[in-house]
Amino acid sequence: MVEYDAFFQKKIQELRSEHRYRIFADLERFQNNPPFALWHPPIESEKTSLAPRKVAVWCTNDYLGLSHHPEIISAQIKATATYGTSSGGTRNISGTTHLHNQLEKKVAALHQKERALLFSSGYVANEATLTTLGEQIPNLVFLSDEKVHASMIHGMRHSKAERIVFKHSDLDNLEQKLKSVDLHRPKIIVFVSIYSMDGDQAPIEEICKLAKKYNALTYLDEVHGVGVYGVGGAGVAAQQGLLDQIDIVQGNFAKGFGGFGGYIAGNDALIDFIRGYASGFIFTTSLPPAITAAAIAAIDVLAKDPSIQARFHERILYLKNKLQQSIIPFHDSGSHIIPIIVGDAARCNQLSYRLLTEYDIYVQPINFPTVPRGSERLRVTLTPHHSFELIDAFVDALSHILAQLNLRAAA
Ligand SMILES: Cc1ncc(COP(=O)(O)O)c(C=O)c1O
Repeated sequence: MVEYDAFFQKKIQELRSEHRYRIFADLERFQNNPPFALWHPPIESEKTSLAPRKVAVWCTNDYLGLSHHPEIISAQIKATATYGTSSGGTRNISGTTHLHNQLEKKVAALHQKERALLFSSGYVANEATLTTLGEQIPNLVFLSDEKVHASMIHGMRHSKAERIVFKHSDLDNLEQKLKSVDLHRPKIIVFVSIYSMDGDQAPIEEICKLAKKYNALTYLDEVHGVGVYGVGGAGVAAQQGLLDQIDIVQGNFAKGFGGFGGYIAGNDALIDFIRGYASGFIFTTSLPPAITAAAIAAIDVLAKDPSIQARFHERILYLKNKLQQSIIPFHDSGSHIIPIIVGDAARCNQLSYRLLTEYDIYVQPINFPTVPRGSERLRVTLTPHHSFELIDAFVDALSHILAQLNLRAAA
């Protein structure tokens, strides 16, 4: 007899003993009171009162707080009232709506590409596109940065095409690897504009130069760049004037645009090819009207109101200055993602737990396998809704607990 339950319990116990068992905070993020949420403590918690408590959220990926923007909310409600709750099918079988076509046109224009294609999420966009490219292009080789997202690794692996991994953002190493491949062999360089856990930016321009020199296509994940950088939230490549150098831009609506869903953008033939061959696009129900309309509204809101981005970046700068003044070391990668490296899973969990229970500050600990062992961290993000007073209080609380735990985080 196979003891299935015993196996599952043993694996869960392994996670617990390595301090990797994930505890999801149970939150109600009310739309009229950002960045606060009502936290429902776990029933089994001994130390905390069981009563729900108001906490400030310091780790959202809804970077610009657009999930609470009145125009976007009303677009979403109106779409449901007009079209109902579902698209009704896959894109091929009655599930292509006018809203999908409108959104694809907007995304293509945003990234200055001929065409775009929607997916259920950013994860699916990466997985489906890279799988399809690797399966279909004969003898393709991927050259992948070692720190690309799990969805990209999964897509490349799934395709069974050869994958050569280069050291993170290391141009010499990338060039060495490119040299080792026949110039005439099809290749795609796969990388990310802003790496999600360290917040560092890829050397996009230099990578594109190498791509040209060695006859490679470029695939850029802009999930943490869109919304937040570039005019109208077009991303980091757009901000640097490099969009024409990127063959395939991938992004999502779930972070800077405050919604849900993913996409790719590129030239007409390439997008049409993915549309026709990608299983993860073809065989799944398309985005519902509410989600699609919200994404359209989010792009429109950012296009007409640059002050949202400005307020966001102003607060990021303020927080970094405050951290510096309080001698709290953090990894300043130059982006909006602020990692405070603790370097130990148990202590990282403890720090996060104390911030939550003693100061009503919610910032999730990030442990292995999301980051390498020894680099466990708090990954701090904020929104335009975080007031300067709230930032001051956050830095004071952090400073206090770090001192109490005799824990000065490492930069
Ligand atoms: C770099 C990167 N790419 C893709 C994704 C997946 O995007 P989504 O949440 O829309 O599935 C994430 C999600 O965190 C990410 O960090």
